[in-house]
Amino acid sequence: MRALIVFYSRTGMTRKAADTLSKILKADVEEIVDKKNRKGLFGYLRSGREAALRIPAWIDKPKNDASLYDTIIIGTPVWASNMSSPVRAYIEENLAKFKKVAFFCTMGGSGNQNIFYSMQELCGKKPVAVVTLRKREIKKDYYQHKLEGFAEEIVKAEGAVKDANQQEVKAQPRAETETRQKEKLQQGPKAKAKSKAKHKSQPKGKKKKPRSRPKSRKK
Ligand SMILES: Cc1cc2nc3c(=O)[nH]c(=O)nc-3n(C[C@H](O)[C@H](O)[C@H](O)COP(=O)(O)O)c2cc1C
Repeated sequence: MRALIVFYSRTGMTRKAADTLSKILKADVEEIVDKKNRKGLFGYLRSGREAALRIPAWIDKPKNDASLYDTIIIGTPVWASNMSSPVRAYIEENLAKFKKVAFFCTMGGSGNQNIFYSMQELCGKKPVAVVTLRKREIKKDYYQHKLEGFAEEIVKAEGAVKDANQQEVKAQPRAETETRQKEKLQQGPKAKAKSKAKHKSQPKGKKKKPRSRPKSRKK
């Protein structure tokens, strides 16, 4: 399975989660680079405003081509109960390249109720797995088990696709015999006559006489 973890992080929480996940899944990582300065109170307010109004940020061109991966795992901090504006920009600019998607978010305490649904709507794809991590859990290193469960779901979804593909391959020989039968039918009476002639030219073996029934004695 080829997976790419794409994330944005302003203060390091989502980055820490993305790094841990990349070790579990042995996946490539892409950090979304934002062109705006989001430091300090002004940066905080601007970020909240963009997220609430669903304005995509200005971001750098990604380093990895999303179309080369089976699954794109997108991580975002929760901003004003929404996805962050750099993550919105990444999805908008790359969604045509996504095959399967999975989402994770980090947050202070609440506001994640609609975030995965908004991400699903924007991607036009249902995620194979989602997980939410709290800032406190990440700081105390009490989040590994959640990410392991999340990774397991992603791997399982990949396995399900492989199984379906294998079944298709197994079904092929049957399809071949069906086409051969169709060809025979299309050949029609000529082919029938040929096979009859072939049958006639073969040497005849001695036919066995049918056994006569023993006559019942008259009393
Ligand atoms: C502008 C802004 C808005 C935020 N809004 C929320 C929120 O609605 N709910 C919440 O639980 N946390 C909120 N947070 C906190 C972040 O989601 C949380 O600290 C997150 O883990 C930060 O991730 P990061 O370190 O990767 O940037 C907000 C943070 C910022 C900067």
